Amino acid sequence: MQTTLEKTLAAELNSLRETGQYKQANVLQAPQGPRTRMDGRDVICLSSNNYLGLANHPKVVAAGQDGTRKFGLGTASVRFICGTMTCHLELERKICEFLGCEASTTFISCWDANVGVIPTLASTAEDAIFSDALNHASIIDAIRLSKAQRFIYKHRDLNELESMLKSANARNRVIITDGVFSMEGDVGDLPQLKDLANRYDAALIVDESHATGVLGAHGRGTAEHFGVLGENTIQISTLGKALGGACGGYVAGSRIVCDYLVQRARPQLFSNALPPSVCYGSIAAIDILMTEGATLLEKLRANVRHFRAGIATLGLKTIEGITPIVPVIVGETATAIAMQKALLEKGVFVSGFGFPVVPRGEARLRCQISAAHSRDDLDQALAALGAVAERFPEARGAHH
Ligand SMILES: Cc1ncc(COP(=O)(O)O)c(C=O)c1O
Repeated sequence: MQTTLEKTLAAELNSLRETGQYKQANVLQAPQGPRTRMDGRDVICLSSNNYLGLANHPKVVAAGQDGTRKFGLGTASVRFICGTMTCHLELERKICEFLGCEASTTFISCWDANVGVIPTLASTAEDAIFSDALNHASIIDAIRLSKAQRFIYKHRDLNELESMLKSANARNRVIITDGVFSMEGDVGDLPQLKDLANRYDAALIVDESHATGVLGAHGRGTAEHFGVLGENTIQISTLGKALGGACGGYVAGSRIVCDYLVQRARPQLFSNALPPSVCYGSIAAIDILMTEGATLLEKLRANVRHFRAGIATLGLKTIEGITPIVPVIVGETATAIAMQKALLEKGVFVSGFGFPVVPRGEARLRCQISAAHSRDDLDQALAALGAVAERFPEARGAHH
């Protein structure tokens, strides 16, 4: 017999199926890479966060195996009880060396880092959090866990942010922004945000998940790109994208902030620490970025320029920018889904996103470029996009 809960859930699932919103996992039959296998066929992957191609890099894989051999599969404990191993300290020292910051601390994911940091640094109704409307879901949920006053400003609208900062009556003030926004591929204006933070005595937190290993001369993210690295900015990022693609998140900044988080951040206090394989694999990924980063970043940027120019030549609608997240705006959710399917048939995997992930009428194919893509991969993908767009003329009429 079904419980009322199961009946309610079944009805909701049915409605997701009827409205075309029911998600089906796209299962990989091979490691993550510029080309992989799906549905028994080789595909060019334009849909992963493997920006530097390190997810299956031999040095990263070997380091992960070494971690398991030396420390076993996992910690069987949270950090502060007996889950801190030397590999965690090595990883945190490596992050500090990479970013040139005083201290860092790790979490099992960047989701957990956000949920650990935001409600911990701004916890009471006397505090205030200021957040960009298009910040990542983990930031939105983290804010919901805090009792602080909330001010959500329109995407990149710093005039609105300033009037909110002026009007707020609060003790601890925290401004939080994505460095690179995950659905738009645009960049937060850190110099202006930093200026506002300084003028209104707020801490600036930047989620660099899509910027680490992507922006800045050494791949240190948006803060390096704008030259505001280390100036009291708290950086949060993931080890699950450019830095090896496994999992894990970190906070990097001042010793005071990190010390406090280790004492108080609940996801670190009450959840297991990172597996040793991930610690060592991520250290290897950071080492590659620190030694071979110039070549990798050059390749990534040349690929991004090439792909963005190709999209412009095809006359497809996008959001101009410099990042490897290149949205192709096609309008309706059904169009995005149908185009995703048609592209897969041509051996190109790219994800379609529609409402409610992005605003209604702005459904898109989110293309993500990697340093590991060859020119051939990108040209084949562009040719497939052009051919598929011919069959969906409505995609060209989409507005943004
Ligand atoms: C901006 C941003 N923050 C946080 C996360 C969560 O990262 P993780 O997979 O490490 O939990 C993501 C992942 O999509 C992200 O894009």
